[in-house]
Amino acid sequence: LIAAFQPKVLAGKRILITAGPTFEAIDPVRGITNLSSGKMGYAVARAAREAGAEVVLISGPTALATPHGVQRINVQSAQQMHDAVMAAVDAQHVFIAVAAVADWRVANASDQKMKKKDDGSVPDLKFEQNPDILATVAARTSLAGYPYCVGFAAESENLLAFGAAKREKKGIPLLVGNIGHHTFGQDDNTIILFDENGHTILPRADKLTLARQLISEVSKRLDKYSL
Ligand code: CTP
Ligand code: CA
Repeated sequence: LIAAFQPKVLAGKRILITAGPTFEAIDPVRGITNLSSGKMGYAVARAAREAGAEVVLISGPTALATPHGVQRINVQSAQQMHDAVMAAVDAQHVFIAVAAVADWRVANASDQKMKKKDDGSVPDLKFEQNPDILATVAARTSLAGYPYCVGFAAESENLLAFGAAKREKKGIPLLVGNIGHHTFGQDDNTIILFDENGHTILPRADKLTLARQLISEVSKRLDKYSL
């Protein structure tokens, strides 16, 4: 009801969002994942839709319902998420990378279930780095400034220093920072927005409230571009 009376600040805009964890297979029945629940990414998708945007949500495995009016594409691995993002990114005005993407995948994943050994020996897993989806999209940003790229960073320490540095390294105009163990799986969170002018702390609130604030901040910044 409240949403119905909010101005549609993103009417006519197309927004691509990643959310949730990724799952990197070890064998057909096992894998490596992380503690992301997807709640923040889904809240951002809902808030963007409420604001009138056309929303595509590329999601790793979660237990969440698709927000009303949002087009959802399910993936498992970081590579699949990368491929789905690249297939969808062309016409997008905004890309918001909320997903907790696995930095590494198992290089020697097995096609068959690995069997426990009688001699107690353990698998010798090797890793290789996954593509950086956000950095890849950011590197494609057009002269007109789109897609406008927003990153998320969950740190465990030094958020102010790491957040500002990560924004620069990724080459993105806006980065949302939070402390990992304060957010994963939780219903509320504290976030810090990093942009070219410094940082702004948004007080602790539920994730939908924060997502609506973030969407409002994004729409203000879009006004600076001719999107
Ligand atoms: N990200 C991504 N693809 C990856 C890794 C991260 O798109 N392979 C995105 C995340 O969705 C997030 C942002 O990059 O928006 C920052 O992720 P984070 O893990 O904090 O940054 P990394 O560059 O991976 O650095 P590190 O994990 O070493 O802190
Ligand atoms: Ca990472």
